[in-house]
Amino acid sequence: MLKRYNHALRRLHETATAHLTSTPEWEVKCALGLHLWLDAEHATAIRSRVAELREPPLHLDGVPDNALERAFSEAIRARSTAELLAAVYGVLRAELLTALRDHLAALNPLFDHPTRRLLCTIAREQEEMLEWGGAALAVFGESPHAIAFAAHVRVYLAAAGGIAGTEPIPASELPPPRSDGGRYEMDTRPRRDARFRDGLNNSGKVSKRHRDSSLPLEERALALLYKRLLEMDVPEMMAPIIYRAEGKPWAYYADMSRQLWDEARHPMMGEVGLTALDVPFYRYPLDRKFSELLNSRFTPLEAHLILWKIEQSLMPRTTGKRAEWELARDGGNELMIAMQDYDWADEVLHAQIGRRHLEPAFASPAERKAASEEVWDRYLAIIDAWAAEHADDEPWWERFVADVRAARLQ
Ligand SMILES: [Fe+2]
Ligand SMILES: [Fe+2]
Repeated sequence: MLKRYNHALRRLHETATAHLTSTPEWEVKCALGLHLWLDAEHATAIRSRVAELREPPLHLDGVPDNALERAFSEAIRARSTAELLAAVYGVLRAELLTALRDHLAALNPLFDHPTRRLLCTIAREQEEMLEWGGAALAVFGESPHAIAFAAHVRVYLAAAGGIAGTEPIPASELPPPRSDGGRYEMDTRPRRDARFRDGLNNSGKVSKRHRDSSLPLEERALALLYKRLLEMDVPEMMAPIIYRAEGKPWAYYADMSRQLWDEARHPMMGEVGLTALDVPFYRYPLDRKFSELLNSRFTPLEAHLILWKIEQSLMPRTTGKRAEWELARDGGNELMIAMQDYDWADEVLHAQIGRRHLEPAFASPAERKAASEEVWDRYLAIIDAWAAEHADDEPWWERFVADVRAARLQ
């Protein structure tokens, strides 16, 4: 049973990862970032419990039941946010919670206490995820497509006897599948919803501004806050790295999922900061050149090398995260000081995750260094060409600063 939960959690994790980048709605993107990390955490905990239960071989990366696998292969082929929500929260995750609760009711709380403790924690977090899912489904309304797709996935899950595998119905009654049996190919094109306009506008140059000591402190601190908000392009570029990296050890997916969720928290911190200033966070351009270019012009390994290179560049004392935190401290805004403090802690962890998982991908440190330098030069050339192409983008920064000042005076 635990192996079935592990499989379900992995596939839920994979489904969220495959859809995060192309899902336009900001709040859904953020939730997918959180939920894929929680599913990964739950799978990690279950895997170590299975290893304690004296039933080798463990086969934790295999498929415990082809019928169960088919239900997830259908769900990942959702064609809209409404379909995705209906299949994942309306059917699969809800059924997972039912299975966990039945399991908790049936197990011996003394003999199998470690499993009880584990499943109680997992069930509580899955319930929170489902609460969000229910609220999101209510917002999206009951579109006929989404209802039909949820029913489709439900029939496939019934053919497996649900997540727990009890009383499967015959597969002969299944409707034609969307899956062709191959691996689902994710859409790596980053999308944002209708609130976000001019999403390639390159005129903000916020990284330059927060480092520019000739600017007033208030404006530099605002640029730093805006830089956090812009980070949505990081989960958008990390999701394809994780999804397309097939056959890695589980620790890779677990670590990278934590990092992805951190990178979704960072723009959410920016959102909180702008909301506190009474400025809608989507009013001015959030350029997504990073995810657009990395997802279309680089392999997953190259994109990971670029991300790691950037994160390493954030570690030096005078130019990196410490300097950002000091700028926030000098600006005196308590919210921003706390934000930069935690952002800094996250980035130290990310630099370590990069080292841990990129080192084994190369035969030697020298080879890794050479590959990293080659890809970095190519990235800079592409970014420069892109910036030149967008040189005439309409300037908006001054309007944004004026907007914040006007909101403060009200
Ligand atoms: Fe970040
Ligand atoms: Fe990071």
